[in-house]
Amino acid sequence: MKRIVILISGRGSNMLSILDANLPAEVAAVISNRRDAPGLASARARGIEALAIEHRDYATREAFDAALAEKIDEFSPDYVILAGFMRILGNDFVNRYAGRLLNIHPSLLPAFPGTATHKRALEEGVKIHGCTVHFVTEKLDHGAIVIQAAVPVLEADTEETLATRVLKQEHRIYPEAIRWLVSGRLKIEGNRVCIGIPGMPMGTLISPEIPC
Ligand code: GRF
Repeated sequence: MKRIVILISGRGSNMLSILDANLPAEVAAVISNRRDAPGLASARARGIEALAIEHRDYATREAFDAALAEKIDEFSPDYVILAGFMRILGNDFVNRYAGRLLNIHPSLLPAFPGTATHKRALEEGVKIHGCTVHFVTEKLDHGAIVIQAAVPVLEADTEETLATRVLKQEHRIYPEAIRWLVSGRLKIEGNRVCIGIPGMPMGTLISPEIPC
C-alpha cells in the first residue's frame, strides 16, 4: 500500500476528510509547521502519528525546508499531501518531491493564487468561485491541475459564507484526487493531468442560474 505524509498548519479539516475517506493508502504521519495546530490533536485522536517542525525554530526558509524534508523522509512516503499547509516551500523542497507533492488551493486556479482568495473573489465580483487540487511546482499555485470544484458566489455572501461553501467542496475533491494519485491513475503531461475517466457526466454551472 502506498504511504502518504500530510502537512498541515492549522485546523486540519482537509486532513480529516482524507483520513476519513478510507483511501487505499497508509497515512504514515501528519506534520505541522506550527506546534499549536489544532489538527495535530485530531490526527492523534485517530491514531495517526502527528508532530510539529516549528518553522520559527529555523533561521532561514532553506533550513526549515531541509529539516522538514528530513523528517518527512523518515516516514518513507510515496506522496506528500499539503492540506492547509500555509508556508511557501522553496525550490529544493519542491523538486525533491516533484510529481509526488499535491496541494489544495481555495480558488479556481489560475485565478487568485496566494492568500485571501475568498476576499479577493468577492472584491472582483466573480459569480463562480471554487477550489483546485494541483501538483506543486516551483511557481506558487501554478502546478498541473488534477481536479476543480466550482460554487456560485451569492449576493449575500461574506468571506465566511463563501469560504464555508468552498471548503465543503474541498473535502469532496481532495480525497478523490488522492485516491487517483495513490492508485497510479494520474499522468502528468506537460501542464495537464490525464485521469482517463471515460464517459464522465459533465454538468454545467451557470451562476446566477438561468432557466433552460
Ligand atoms: C483550506 O481552505 C485550504 O484550502 C487553505 O486553507 C484552508 C485550510 O483549512 N489553504 P483546513 O486546515 O484544511 O481546515
